[in-house]
Amino acid sequence: GMMKELLGLKALEEQIAHEYQLKKVIVVPGDSDQYDWVKKEMGRACVHYLKQHVADQATVAITGGTTVAAVAEMMGSDFQRDDLLFVPARGGIGEEVENQANTICAEMARQTGASYRLLHVPDQLSEDTYSSLISEPSVQSVLHNITSATVVIHGIGEAKTMAKRRGASEEFLQKLTNHEAVAEAFGYYFDHLGDIIHRERTIGLQLEHLNEEKQVIAIAGGSSKSVAITAYLKNRKSTILITDEGAARQMLN
Ligand code: BG6
Repeated sequence: GMMKELLGLKALEEQIAHEYQLKKVIVVPGDSDQYDWVKKEMGRACVHYLKQHVADQATVAITGGTTVAAVAEMMGSDFQRDDLLFVPARGGIGEEVENQANTICAEMARQTGASYRLLHVPDQLSEDTYSSLISEPSVQSVLHNITSATVVIHGIGEAKTMAKRRGASEEFLQKLTNHEAVAEAFGYYFDHLGDIIHRERTIGLQLEHLNEEKQVIAIAGGSSKSVAITAYLKNRKSTILITDEGAARQMLN
């Protein structure tokens, strides 16, 4: 309504934090659906937050996606942290190389002077392959780093958009329709209540690992993602949300 349109960014942040019971909300001006630079501003806001809140020697687990890639891009010269370790949150989930967590993870380490470790596991694992891979010592060792991460940075997407981007079958798209899936985050698909309707079987962080001890930063914007962001946040109370005005205003409607 009229009031919401007049709210300044600070008030928007406070209202969203209150309504969705989030630890912290950062809203950057603009709508990333309309302008690409808005995504970069979300990236910049995330780097700014990290500068102030990431403890020494921390392990930071990240997902893929163009928004998390924008965080890497903004890490530039004023965020030098050779004490940090970057790891991908989960194994490949069917993304193009530039959108993959491994790629972005290496880029973050390059930008900041930090270390990184990669997870070389294919997506769409069969149950047998999953069990044998997960018992490999090299996989175990990275997995240990991943689950002990104290900071997690992840994107949120629209369910169908993400499924198509990952080359989903007609059958899978139908499943999403049948269950009214609206949101996706690190390989999990959710309905509008935030209930999980599908999880990709892959190695790495599972939703239940996102506990109170971790700083979980969700970064997603654009008015087209407001339904997805809203749905995802229904069941997750401890998250830090970095978004844009385009999504934020819709989230209060
Ligand atoms: C994926 C992440 O790589 O990117 C998801 O695993 C996220 O968590 C998605 O939903 C979002 O991508 P983008 O490009 O919209 O930021």
